[in-house]
Amino acid sequence: MIYRKELENLNCYKPGKPIEEVKRTLGLEEVYKLASNEIPFIPVHINKVIQKELKSINRYPDAGCFYLRKLLSEKLDVNTEQIVFGNGSDELIALSLRAIINKGDEVIVSYPTFLIYEIQAKIHSAKIIRVPFKEFRYSLTEILKNISNKTKIIFIANPDNPTGTYLTQKEVEAFMIKVPDNVLVFFDEAYFEFAPSDYPDTLKLLKKKKNIFVSRTFSKAYGLAGIRIGYGVGSKELANVMNKIREPFNVNRLAQAGAIAALENDIFLKKVLNYVQKEKFYLYKEFNKLGIQFVKSATNFIMLDFNQDTSNLNDYLLKKGIIIRELKGWGMNNFFRVSIGKHKENKYFIHCLKKYMGLDK
Ligand SMILES: Cc1ncc(COP(=O)(O)O)c(C=O)c1O
Repeated sequence: MIYRKELENLNCYKPGKPIEEVKRTLGLEEVYKLASNEIPFIPVHINKVIQKELKSINRYPDAGCFYLRKLLSEKLDVNTEQIVFGNGSDELIALSLRAIINKGDEVIVSYPTFLIYEIQAKIHSAKIIRVPFKEFRYSLTEILKNISNKTKIIFIANPDNPTGTYLTQKEVEAFMIKVPDNVLVFFDEAYFEFAPSDYPDTLKLLKKKKNIFVSRTFSKAYGLAGIRIGYGVGSKELANVMNKIREPFNVNRLAQAGAIAALENDIFLKKVLNYVQKEKFYLYKEFNKLGIQFVKSATNFIMLDFNQDTSNLNDYLLKKGIIIRELKGWGMNNFFRVSIGKHKENKYFIHCLKKYMGLDK
C-alpha cells in the first residue's frame, strides 16, 4: 500500500494520559488527572438528560442538530445557517482546512499553541508558516508580516493553550482591519468562558468581517469532554461548505441532548467559573511561595517554568498518582502545564511538588 507522502513524518497528537491507564500501569488506586484542561466536576444535571436519551440509542441522531442549533442561534444572536457542529471543536479545525486548503496553500500557526492546527494542516497538505510567540503571547504584528498571497488560514487560540494568555478586544480589532478579506482567521475560543472582560467579542466582529470563524466547545467550562461536542460560527457561505463536507452524523444524540441541557443551566457554569478563579489564585500563591515561575492564565490551567527538565518531576508525580502535562511536544523541556482540579487534588499536587523540591518540612 502506498500512503500519502504528507503523512510520512506526521507526529500524531499525544493526549494527556488517561486515569485508567495510570492506575493500571502503576498499580495505583487513586489518580488525579491535571493534564487535559477538563473541569473536575461532573455536571450531574446533564446525567439525567442523558439517561433519558439512552432510551433512543438504536436511532441515528438528528444530523442537523435542529433543537441545539435553534437554541444556540438565539443565545448567540447568529443565523442558524452560520453554525457548524463538530465531534468536539477539534473536528471544526479539520473541517475548515478540508473546506479551504489546496495543496501548497499556506497556513499560519503560532508557537507554542494548540498542536492540532499544525497536525491537521499537514494532513491537509498545507505549507505551515510558524510564527513564534513574544513573551508567551501571540505576536499579531509578526503574523501580519507573514501573510503572503498563498495564505489561506490563520489559526489563533484565544485564550491560548498551553500558555493561558489571551488577546484583547482592541488587539483583535486592530489586527482584523489589516488581514486581507480572502484569508480566514480561525479563532479557537475553547476557553473563552474563563476569560476576563476585555476579551474580544468575535461574534460581533463577524457581523462586519466575513473572514472570521469562531470555534467553541462544551468540553471545558461545561464539563462534557467525554461526550464530544463543539460548535463553530462563521459566514453562511463557509458554514454551508463545512456542513456539506462533514460526516452526516458527526454529533451523537447524547452529545446533542447534553449540550442543550448545558446551555439551559447557567448555575453550573457560574459555579465552575467562580471555582476556577478562586482555585487559580490559591495555586498562584503556592507557586509564589515555592519560587516557581508561572504565566498568569485566562483559562482553567496554568503553565509553569520549572527551570529544569521536567522528566523526573513528571515520573515522580505519576508515581504519586498525579498526571500533569509536560510540554516536550512543543520543545519546551523545562515547562509543564497543570489544570485546575478539585481543591483536594490541587493541595495534594502542591504537597508533592514541595516534597520533590525538598521544601516539605
Ligand atoms: C485550544 C484548544 N482548542 C480545541 C480543543 C479541543 O477541544 P474539544 O475537541 O474537546 O472541543 C482544545 C482541547 O484541549 C484546546 O485546548
